[in-house]
Amino acid sequence: MIIKIIGSSAGGGFPQWNCNGPQSRAVRRGDAGFASRTQSSIAVSADGRDWAVFNASPDIREQIAATSELQPDPEGPLRASPIKAVVVTNADVDHIAGLLSLREKQAFTLYGARQVLETIAANPIFDVLDAGLVVRRELALGREIQIEGPEGTLGLTVEAYAVPGKIPLYLEDANLDPGDYLSESGDAIGLKFSAGNSSQSFHYIPGCAWIEEDLRARLRGARLLLFDGTLFTDAEMPDQGLGPKTGKRMGHVAISGEEGPLARLAGLDIGKRIFIHINNSNPILDERSAARRAVEEAGWEVAFDGMEIRL
Ligand code: MLT
Ligand code: MN
Repeated sequence: MIIKIIGSSAGGGFPQWNCNGPQSRAVRRGDAGFASRTQSSIAVSADGRDWAVFNASPDIREQIAATSELQPDPEGPLRASPIKAVVVTNADVDHIAGLLSLREKQAFTLYGARQVLETIAANPIFDVLDAGLVVRRELALGREIQIEGPEGTLGLTVEAYAVPGKIPLYLEDANLDPGDYLSESGDAIGLKFSAGNSSQSFHYIPGCAWIEEDLRARLRGARLLLFDGTLFTDAEMPDQGLGPKTGKRMGHVAISGEEGPLARLAGLDIGKRIFIHINNSNPILDERSAARRAVEEAGWEVAFDGMEIRL
């Protein structure tokens, strides 16, 4: 399997268009130790020819332009794409808005959990994806499926499972208690990948609100884990004056602390661990920070755009 991290930041990107926080200013200035990052997406291929994209970020056009593997074969037909399938792990803007850029009468298969496909179906703007070409398929939870494109299987097997998360921001109802936005029924999913007969597996979890024992059990023995690295500390956005929301309110467990992945996933038999979906407030974006040193000393890597892993 070839895994390309085509967008390593959380929603908003790095720098975020309207953010004047110290890190967004630093990356805008081109300071050493900072690299710009586009919004949350990975591309996976079993054969290096046909690709599935996992999460369609608002930056997908730029991400395709930066990734030759995702561009039309110059010898191919006048309209073509190696992207044969798109799988979305929730209905947040940073994971579905890029679908609008994938119009233009191109066939691919769109996969998502039931709630996510319902949200997309309820928004007529997504009908720009011609239903005759873009087939929508529900990802049943807890079942291994073969990812298929218009011409057949891509040789990738995926199992979707619910992780603790939250309904999309734009579906929040101000009359409800924020706790009611939390969900463990498939509004956010993790994905386990395998290819061919290989026993190698990897997990992709761009959003996770807390880490339960069943998730720890699931991750044992994985060759690779791409995990929610939105925040380093739960209150870093309010602490930096960037907004009132904590990680708990946004459905993202912070990296540090007793509940976070540094502590809760330590000691599990996992080959390689990488933080993805990194918010512009997160100090691990500064290569020289103590937070960056702490995650690296704990055996984690920090994703960057263009990062490639082969399993
Ligand atoms: C998130 O990951 O919390 C969301 O992408 C936030 C958002 O929709 O802006
Ligand atoms: Mn997000």
